[in-house]
Amino acid sequence: MYILGIESSCDETSAAVVRMGDGKREILSNIVASQIETHRLYGGVVPEIASRAHIEAISSVTYEALDTAGIGIGDVGCIAVTTHPGLIGALLVGVNFAKSLAFANGIPLVSVNHVKAHVAAAYLENSELEPPFTALVVSGGHTSIYRVNSYTDFCEIGATRDDAAGEAFDKIGRVIGMPYPGGAAMDKLATVGKADAIKLPSPAIVGDSMDFSFSGLKTAALNYINKERQKGTEPCHEDIAASYTKVIVDAIVKQVGKALDSESSDSLVLAGGVAANSHIRAALEALCDKKRKNFYKPSMKLCSDNGAMVAAAGYFEYLAGNFKDTSLNAWADDEDR
Ligand code: KG4
Ligand code: ZN
Repeated sequence: MYILGIESSCDETSAAVVRMGDGKREILSNIVASQIETHRLYGGVVPEIASRAHIEAISSVTYEALDTAGIGIGDVGCIAVTTHPGLIGALLVGVNFAKSLAFANGIPLVSVNHVKAHVAAAYLENSELEPPFTALVVSGGHTSIYRVNSYTDFCEIGATRDDAAGEAFDKIGRVIGMPYPGGAAMDKLATVGKADAIKLPSPAIVGDSMDFSFSGLKTAALNYINKERQKGTEPCHEDIAASYTKVIVDAIVKQVGKALDSESSDSLVLAGGVAANSHIRAALEALCDKKRKNFYKPSMKLCSDNGAMVAAAGYFEYLAGNFKDTSLNAWADDEDR
């Protein structure tokens, strides 16, 4: 069947058509209208501007997704829309558009959790993958480790207690002059810097916990940069990026290592925008090799927010019979309702 996935939780308006079922997991279109250039001016996402930009883009992005897939709205078997978590004004645009399209055309509608959608992207590229497995979602808003019990049932076994890894990369990227979002630029700088140049605190919570805390690390890096600047020297950006990346990668390896040891699953799925980070990908690949686990990492185009991952997650909500009606709303937190 064809599923139309609609995503508008942050700064990307996206719609995609995927074909699922009968042994097929196929992306027929995946159109993304990014607002990054608009928000760059302000150094971060401005929620009100994001909502307005979604309104302008949503209709054309959706019809482009249908056209590219070579189907009409009448061929769609299910519409899946991100309802949570995210920016409430941004989410409402996608939810109201999806509701209108579904009810005007008599198409079943399902609600999708954005974080679960990041994980579901892995099904589109790995036809053999099925739960249970362990998943790490690292994005601008999330850093969580899950026990994925089934296609729709996730149990969070570790999470950040404050900021997310993506936010932490963007923050220090901004301080050293990288345009928003600085994550990808930090990745490149880290490749040429010295990882042991600056001593920084680990964002991994010690003991049995699989949690993270990035606020102390951010403050320590900021203090280092400010102290150097007060002395009249600009610190080496490459060394900052490399040292900062190293403590984040080491913390991820440590916490995911604990998760893989405590869980009986034999696979790790990496997901989310920060899954594009070359250092995290390489370190988790090595960890899975060492622990003899299968490692699934998304291709670059499926790391950041997109409609195809929403459609993939929506297919399993459809199979579970979790249909929604015109009372469907959006909400900012990550609780499923
Ligand atoms: O999943 P995503 O597209 O949006 C959210 O749901 O948050 O993630 C965006 C985040 C941004 O913080 C961005 O800087 C980060 O992913 N990111 C990276 C890299 N590419 C994108 N962070 C580190 N290294 C990268 N290569
Ligand atoms: Zn995301």
